[in-house]
Amino acid sequence: METEPIQRILKFPEGFLWGAATSSFQVEGGIDNNDWAEGSRNGLLPPIGRACDHYNRYESDFDIAQSLGHNCHRLSIEWSRIEPAEGKFDLMEIEHYRNVLKALHKRNMVPFVTLWHFSVPIWFSESGGFDSRSDAPEIFARYCAFVVEHLGDLCKHFATINEAMPLASNGWRRGTWPPFREWPGFEWALSGVPGAMPLTQKNKSISNIYKYFRVMSTFARAHNAAYRAIKKVSPGSEVSIVHQVLVFHANNNPINKLFASILNWHWTYSFMAKVYKQCDSISVNYYLHKKFGETRVYEKSDMNWDIYPEGIYQALIMMKRYQKPLYISEAGIADASDSKRADYIQRLVQHMHKAIEEGADLRGYMYWSLMDNYELAHGYEKRFGLIAINFDTLERTVRDSAQVYARIARSNSVDNF
Ligand code: BGC
Repeated sequence: METEPIQRILKFPEGFLWGAATSSFQVEGGIDNNDWAEGSRNGLLPPIGRACDHYNRYESDFDIAQSLGHNCHRLSIEWSRIEPAEGKFDLMEIEHYRNVLKALHKRNMVPFVTLWHFSVPIWFSESGGFDSRSDAPEIFARYCAFVVEHLGDLCKHFATINEAMPLASNGWRRGTWPPFREWPGFEWALSGVPGAMPLTQKNKSISNIYKYFRVMSTFARAHNAAYRAIKKVSPGSEVSIVHQVLVFHANNNPINKLFASILNWHWTYSFMAKVYKQCDSISVNYYLHKKFGETRVYEKSDMNWDIYPEGIYQALIMMKRYQKPLYISEAGIADASDSKRADYIQRLVQHMHKAIEEGADLRGYMYWSLMDNYELAHGYEKRFGLIAINFDTLERTVRDSAQVYARIARSNSVDNF
């Protein structure tokens, strides 16, 4: 019997997009009127300050990305810049983002814009925000439509919400992100789930578990309202939602399998069921997995997360069921020494290829992150960047692993496993 020759090189479909991602308040600097800036002023989050000063340095940062063979880039729009007061929109800031998008086009990089990546304007959070404003979905949809109306000629791919589930979980259950709501039962209920961060004492209340479930539905309604509003002003835009797939899996024990199914249902399928019909494509973020009944001890990243790039394959196969084009909008590793990143990226990419071979309609990958940045509740200590940032001098240094990724991007292929 003839066996198929082993492919030495795994080729990606023609036109596959390779790039990296950032988000506004994590890199731009100088943002003082959103809920994260407020949280840091109140001592609940590490100071943000000028971050990477990407607001002023985007041209030279994009020069580096282009030199690394990137042909796409994901960024987010800072809602508090565009709508600094309720219903008042700032056209100067729109002009800024128009220039950012033009800078990408000039470098032949396809832009992917996320309309909301975790931070909201203070006027919105202080008036109840997604926590309690009954018109929150419509307010959000109005902002989204405004942005797309003004940027839609420069960008086709818009995502409404970045990672509703981690936001609900950290903001309304763990109390580590704005609005710092904590459900005291959490630690007991999900002990052992990776990515755990220290709990704050803020807004601790049993009733937060109800608010946690309610806010997930509010996020779904907000996405659906935004989808409709965007389509009215720009029918040709491709609208997606960014979902972080936390891969729950198990050994052969049926109880462990049941746990994994329930958690996949809770974290991914029940949320996606509410939004996928209002998605032209789906953007997938992958970082974490949890295997029930696992005895193997994994090597860890600087976040103390298991190094398990193989999980991206499972994440993509899980998302394939929605039969939409898929993009990896984030996947990456915190690795200050840069000793693990290159291997991590190669293994991620090999497993993306495997998912494509099994029918996932994957069209692009954006590594998290283009540069070191404000890593949320961890401040500036964790280093995800292809580009290292010296936060004292703001000097940029391209890491060696970025060159390994550049070879993948330029050749549109990766060496086989
Ligand atoms: C978020 C990013 C974050 C990254 C690493 C993702 O969940 O979208 O904002 O920096 O994870 O923790």
